This record gives sequence, C-alpha cells and structure tokens, in this order.
Amino acid sequence: MVESSSFAKQLAASAERLFKLIDRFAQARILVIGDLTLDEFLTGQVERISREAPVLILRHETTQQTPGGGANAVYNIAKLGAKVKVAGLVGKDAQGDALRNIFEAAGIDTCGILTDPHRPTVTKTRIAGHARQSVTQQIVRVDRKSDNLPDSDVQLQLAEHIRQQLETMDAVVCSDYGDGVFTPPAIEAALSHWRTIVDAQKDLSRYRGATLFTPNLPEAERAVGYAIKDFQTLARAGQDLLELTQAQHMIITRGEEGMSLFDRTGRVEYIPPFNRTEVFDVTGAGDTVVAALTLSLCADASFWEAAVLGNLAASIVVRKFGTATTTPDEMKAALQALLEAS
Ligand SMILES: Nc1ncnc2c1ncn2[C@@H]1O[C@H](COP(=O)(O)OP(=O)(O)OP(=O)(O)O)[C@@H](O)[C@H]1O
Ligand SMILES: [Mg+2]
Repeated sequence: MVESSSFAKQLAASAERLFKLIDRFAQARILVIGDLTLDEFLTGQVERISREAPVLILRHETTQQTPGGGANAVYNIAKLGAKVKVAGLVGKDAQGDALRNIFEAAGIDTCGILTDPHRPTVTKTRIAGHARQSVTQQIVRVDRKSDNLPDSDVQLQLAEHIRQQLETMDAVVCSDYGDGVFTPPAIEAALSHWRTIVDAQKDLSRYRGATLFTPNLPEAERAVGYAIKDFQTLARAGQDLLELTQAQHMIITRGEEGMSLFDRTGRVEYIPPFNRTEVFDVTGAGDTVVAALTLSLCADASFWEAAVLGNLAASIVVRKFGTATTTPDEMKAALQALLEAS
C-alpha cells in the first residue's frame, strides 16, 4: 500500500508519536476564516413531463444541507475534536441560518459569522432525480453568489473580529475560495497571528509571511506559471512558491499522487497516498488535509508529521461520499491498519 519502503520505515518509527499527536487534537483552539458555502442536495422522484414546458416534474423527497468551501474546512476541524471559532460572511437568508445551525450543532462558535445584507450566502444547490427503479442522477445545479466584494464596513468589521480572537488561538486557518471574505483588512488581521495556515485557490502572494500553504497541483502550477511534470519541475515549483510567499514550508497536495513537503533549505519530502483503492469521492479532501495538519502542528508535530497526518485524514474521507469529515478514532484505526499493511 505504501510503496516506498523507506517511507514505511519512517512511518513505523514515528507511529507512537503520531498516535499521541492525534490524541492531542482536542486541545487545539483554532480560528478558521473562510469563504463559507452551503451545499444543498435536493432529490425527487420523476412524476411526469410538465404541460407548461418540456421539463421533468419531480416529487420532492429529500433536502440535504452540508458545509462546503471554507465551511467544510471549519466542519472538518470541529469533527476532529478541536475547539473552533469561525469568521466569515453569510447573507440575510435561510441558507445563512442553515449554515449557522449546522455549525452550532457541531459545537462551533459562530459569533464571527457576520451577516452581509447585500450578498447572498454562497449556495450550490444540486437537483437530482430518479425514476421508480433507476439510480439518482444530477439534473441541474443552481449557484447563488455575488461577484461584488463586501462593503468596506463589513470588511473592517470582519477584520476587527479576527483581531479580537487572535490572542487565544493556537492557529489561524485561511480557507480562501475566492468568494470575497479575503479582502486586504481580513488578510492583514489573519497574518498578525504567528501561525497562519493558508489554503487559497489563487493570489498566494497576498498572504506573504504565512506559516504554511497547501495548494493543490493545479493551484501550484497557476501560481508559478509553468507545468509540474516531473521531479525537477516539482522541486523548482516548491522553491518558487516559498520565495513567492516567504513561507517557512509549502505543501503541494497532488491528488492520487499524495503530497510533497518543501522547506527553505531545499529539502523535498514525498508522502505517498495511503489509499488508492476504494476512492469514491475526492471532493473536499484538501479541506481535510488542512484540518488535520493544522491540529497536528498545534499538538507540536513537525511539519513532516503534520503532513503525514493530513494525508492520513484525506485517505479516510476519499472513501466517503460528498464533502466528508473524519474523527480522531477513525484516524487511529486507519493508522493502525496502515502500519499493519506495510
Ligand atoms: N484519487 C485519490 N486517491 C488517493 N488519495 C487521494 C486522491 N485524491 C486525493 N487524495 C488525497 O487527498 C489529498 C488532497 O487532494 P487534492 O490534492 O485533490 O486536494 P484539493 O484539490 O485541494 O481538494 P479539494 O479542493 O476538493 O478539497 C491528497 O494529498 C491525497 O492525500
Ligand atoms: Mg483545495
């Protein structure tokens, strides 16, 4: 399962530490600043073709709502047992209320979710239908979002809220999906913390000086402006990203290839994927990586140990359907299984 035997040896040697780190997740206090999204799934059974237009009529069966985008990072950290505060924006709408309720039920402090009256809660609604005996399939997706930035008073209020939390936090996570939370005041406030982990889709240089970045492969390629196609271009990209962001460490998550960790001395460490079979849905795996590695760092892990635990958590959620979360118990069971298999 774990291909490189030297990696397997390293893992076996660190096993005891890794179990201890997972046990310490519950002590961490994290502020997650995020572009919050509500994912909605509506399903129904196809009844007939409408007489108003040549379209299907579905009889509604279920509505499911789950945290998406930056809200998925928030949710993942909470399910890993840490104390989480969230800072972000929702609209003055039912979707915003739904997101707050989901968070509160998971014990997440939502005082930092501000209501922006001029922009809707970012919502992605999938409508799926099935006939009597057939599988359910998505028919259409409806997105609600604004292309405008929040008003400057909302931006400043959010930044002020972030600043007020910093002192009591062990780490700050920025989960930037490009939906308007990360304006210069919010970024500046986030970077005032000494340990800031950034998962941003673009414009990584806006977060210059953060502790660690976790771009995926396409994001890394876009940031450096060339294709990553072999070890040489990968190593160069890692160093170019460190130069661009002035970070201490960089992790490029590489989907089914696992991840690579870079430091400023030019060292590159490869962490192979822990699970390549039974992969059902990789959506949100990046959010899970950020969640588990942040909690690991707060538990005093090295960057390598944090990357390994991030990779371990991802290997669990890719087996689950939709944006998913995992728990410390599942992580320990997966680690045990991994050690026995290698
Ligand atoms: N097909 C796969 N097989 C095994 N592991 C995977 C697969 N895809 C992702 N992973 C695991 O998940 C981690 C993160 O995946 P990826 O690089 O796709 O992040 P991402 O694109 O940021 O995800 P998202 O934005 O959907 O949250 C990888 O480093 C790896 O550990
Ligand atoms: Mg991602």
